[in-house]
Amino acid sequence: MTILAPMDDVTDTVFRRVVWDCAPYDMSMTEFVNVDGLCSPGRPRLMSKLRTDQDTGLVAAQIWGKKPENFVTIAREIANGTIAGFDSIDINFGCPAKAEVRAECCSAMQQLHLRPQAQDIIEATLQGAGDMPVSFKTRLGFDHIDYTWHAFLLQFQPSMLTVHVRTTKQMSKVPAQWDAVEEIVRLRDQISPNTKIIMNGDIMNRQHGDELAQTHGVDGTMIGRGVFQDPYCFAESGSDMLPWAEVSRADKLALLRKHFDLFAQTYTDNERPYAPLKKFVKIYVSGFDGASELRQRIMDTDNLTGGYAAIDAG
Ligand SMILES: Cc1cc2nc3c(=O)[nH]c(=O)nc-3n(C[C@H](O)[C@H](O)[C@H](O)COP(=O)(O)O)c2cc1C
Repeated sequence: MTILAPMDDVTDTVFRRVVWDCAPYDMSMTEFVNVDGLCSPGRPRLMSKLRTDQDTGLVAAQIWGKKPENFVTIAREIANGTIAGFDSIDINFGCPAKAEVRAECCSAMQQLHLRPQAQDIIEATLQGAGDMPVSFKTRLGFDHIDYTWHAFLLQFQPSMLTVHVRTTKQMSKVPAQWDAVEEIVRLRDQISPNTKIIMNGDIMNRQHGDELAQTHGVDGTMIGRGVFQDPYCFAESGSDMLPWAEVSRADKLALLRKHFDLFAQTYTDNERPYAPLKKFVKIYVSGFDGASELRQRIMDTDNLTGGYAAIDAG
């Protein structure tokens, strides 16, 4: 099983579609969405993160937050289709960002003293989700590898447990510790044999993931930043897809244009601003003569019309 990783401000419905059309994956997840925000007047602004395209494989809505009652409410809305289009719910126990950790959410909950709170939000989500599968995405631990955390999570029989094989303290600064997943696979076999274990961290493409899955005995792999190096990273090995470095300038710019087109069609009424869209330009406008100059000209624009004009002017 191959999964496109959730990445905030990156894997919205538009980018998930672009990557899927390049080469399909089995599953993806939304950017993480705060349940407490969704249960507040700020909801309309957050709903753009929960937009989803029906035909890009399985899609999980990824949630995080603080208040168990809001996990019940939002899980129920996802499960009953009030928030439509999802096959499962994933709880984020992996985000290492300062604000989330300070709020004792996400990866902070790996710490022993916050397990009662983690248990409350898991039970709340399971209650709201009913029959809809619930999965967790986490790390190896907070400031050290802590398998008691994974054993704790497995008691709830999640459909899937994705492990980014670094601790919170390591952020993404050290190489992924792929070997460390093997103990989690062993725990899974003992505690929750039906849970799929997904490994994540520094996996570059499908072939790389398949090799790692075989070596370490996991059920699947998740690729995040690998898509920045190669949007075709989910291509089957042996397919006639060119390595990204060999894709022509014209094809790369056609893909950028497609991304812009989908963005314009999806987010009418300025639902999402133009500036963050420019973060994607580096993916497509690279690796050919004149790429950095063209990139700069696109980055200097401040709306879609200007962006298209810069692409057309070459
Ligand atoms: C820009 C960015 C945003 C991210 N946002 C999320 C998120 O919303 N939810 C989540 O579970 N992980 C998030 N992550 C972590 C990734 O899903 C993934 O676990 C991490 O990048 C390691 O995988 P990789 O080496 O394949 O990139 C984010 C990572 C990046 C780079």
